[in-house]
Amino acid sequence: MTPQPAGCLSSAYGRHRMYVCICNGVTERDIRQAAEAGCRSVPELTMRTGAGANCGSCLDTAAALLEDTRGVRELPVPMLQHAA
Ligand code: FES
Repeated sequence: MTPQPAGCLSSAYGRHRMYVCICNGVTERDIRQAAEAGCRSVPELTMRTGAGANCGSCLDTAAALLEDTRGVRELPVPMLQHAA
């Protein structure tokens, strides 16, 4: 049997599925698909997928995946104040 990376499970087709939100069974692919479908914020991601709706320990990872897929990094507020 091939060892599996931590946090990954093999599907029936031999591909790996990384679970980001264990509480609600939300995968990295689910989050990327939501971003590609127009999801723009973590609260919206939670509404669409359920990620973060329970313990919330997945929110940082979910937010990073959302930003990575969208190709956008939100600037912290102090950075915006200096730009004006
Ligand atoms: S791991 Fe996502 S809400 Fe608990």
